[in-house]
Amino acid sequence: MAGFRIPEQVIEEIKASSELVSVVEQYVRLEKKTGQNFFGLCPFHSEDTPSFSVSPSKQIFYCFGCHKGGDVIRFIMEIEKCEYLPAIQLLAQRAGITLPEPDDEAYRLRSEKTKALQAINLEAARFYYQNLISTAGRDARAYLQKRQISAQTVRRFGLGCALADWDGLYRHLQNKGLADDVDLLLQSGLLRRGKSGNLYDLFRERLMFPILDVMGRVVAFGGRVYDDSVPKYINSPETPIYTKGRHLYGLNLAKSSKAGRLLMVEGYMDVIALYQAGIDYTVAALGTAMTENQARLLAKYSESVIIAFDADAAGQTAALRSLDILHQHGLKVTVLQVPEGKDPDEFIRNNGSERFQALIEQSLPLLDFKLLAARREHTHDGALDILAYQDEACDVLGKEENAIVRELYAGRLADELSAMSETVLREIERRRSQKKPGQQHDQLRQTLLTTRRSEPAERHAPATRDEIYLLTLLASDSAIWPVLDPGPVVEDFSEGSMQTLAAAVLPLAADGRLDMPLLLDQAQSLTVMGQPLADLLAQAGMKQEERFGQQGQLEAAVELLKRQRRGKLMRRKDVISQAIMTADPVERDRLKQELLEISQQLEKMKSTSQ
Ligand code: CTP
Ligand code: MN
Repeated sequence: MAGFRIPEQVIEEIKASSELVSVVEQYVRLEKKTGQNFFGLCPFHSEDTPSFSVSPSKQIFYCFGCHKGGDVIRFIMEIEKCEYLPAIQLLAQRAGITLPEPDDEAYRLRSEKTKALQAINLEAARFYYQNLISTAGRDARAYLQKRQISAQTVRRFGLGCALADWDGLYRHLQNKGLADDVDLLLQSGLLRRGKSGNLYDLFRERLMFPILDVMGRVVAFGGRVYDDSVPKYINSPETPIYTKGRHLYGLNLAKSSKAGRLLMVEGYMDVIALYQAGIDYTVAALGTAMTENQARLLAKYSESVIIAFDADAAGQTAALRSLDILHQHGLKVTVLQVPEGKDPDEFIRNNGSERFQALIEQSLPLLDFKLLAARREHTHDGALDILAYQDEACDVLGKEENAIVRELYAGRLADELSAMSETVLREIERRRSQKKPGQQHDQLRQTLLTTRRSEPAERHAPATRDEIYLLTLLASDSAIWPVLDPGPVVEDFSEGSMQTLAAAVLPLAADGRLDMPLLLDQAQSLTVMGQPLADLLAQAGMKQEERFGQQGQLEAAVELLKRQRRGKLMRRKDVISQAIMTADPVERDRLKQELLEISQQLEKMKSTSQ
């Protein structure tokens, strides 16, 4: 896969056949309100009044609420939360364009196998679903009813069932022409070979949960019995398309939630029950302890995670382990405590979704949970072993990097222990100075995190409407650049953000490569008087045709550049005139000279423009 690139012309073809308005309309209800552009409720953040706009003529989208914007590929990347290549693949698939395969034979074989295994899994999911809604699926349906899972939820999660016969799936795949390659069938994990050499189904008489990857492709299954027999669940083994600990059940749905956080639970049924109750941001780790891979995956989709593991001891230990891994990946973690009941699914069935919402809001920050866990661990028959507890509590707090947070919790712990907070804090700090390994690393990570956060520095610099429109015109029509003579230079733009942007985009414009998505992209994280620069550019880009008409754009650009230059000189003239009054004699001479030069330049401009 390394080095494989889709040719530029194929990407152009994909873009050309993926009309932005119709692509967006598959996700967002759009309305034509003003002029040429469409508006709708932004799919990327929650809002009541539409600030998400799509320009059919520019083929760009832009949200004035959350400032996301770009072209059709960027839209897919944002809404499907995927990288560039999968976005291209998705658009190509929808547009019926076949992507060229790279020349690499090993890659070709691997990707063929992946596709074939995906096809088998998808067909299996269809088969299990058909079973469920057929008469033979009555046991499974009765079970779902008992667990209060609606038909709509069944469809949403693609639930199904495996019947009692030994080779129902095998025969179905044969009928669909997907059973020629026996090796591949065995690799799918859905079929096995018996002693006599014949193939039989792995899953029989079970409620079936398809496991989907982030892009919504079926990669594996879990199957549950209808009663208390064991094993309660059987899952697909690892296959070329399914590695345990790399997937999170429900993430394909949760990633589109607007909640801005993820809720992590233990089981399939928890995800499903919560989703049905309107909590649409739940994922499950699929029976494994939380892995590094899963933490990384979570971090891609959200900055904060709530863990809601079962209230039993195993669940609590799992929660503690997961906490650390998630914390190490820079996620804000809180822990939800499910009282009495066993797991979130049961709780919500008995108490309703509102009470579960309340639990979510009350979930404990990482340190509080760790202290609580330590307290529980050292409470025997209702009596707290205070020495053991304070020992562990100080250890826990000693690992906290933030000194203010340490002090805060030291105070609380002191209250709890009826000790002086200075004493508790001193003990915590003493343990910190003893603990060395890993600490440097932590501090390094901490500095990296903090510098990264504060990076998009706010610049309070002005921008004129002229220079904004000049850039959007340049981004819309590559014929404009050659007409501007002398062409715009960085110094023509206002100091600060505008010059930063100009420095990045003028070379692109000179190359004929600048377009609106690129322009918006380069403006990301730049601000003008507290406003995102991308807002101003998107607004101008969407209005410019109305303003200048299709034909008048060349002339408009010439005029805008001239006005911009003149305006800049005038403003400089004002500044100097002010400064002259307070300058010392040497400085005053220099300023006078500059004033003279500016006046001459302004004169020259006047004469050439007539
Ligand atoms: N699990 C598994 N194999 C088992 C038991 C559990 O793979 N033998 C995984 C499943 O992904 C399951 C999760 O661990 O969803 C949590 O297990 P558990 O809490 O026992 O199951 P629930 O999902 O709560 O199922 P139910 O409510 O139907 O009992
Ligand atoms: Mn359960």
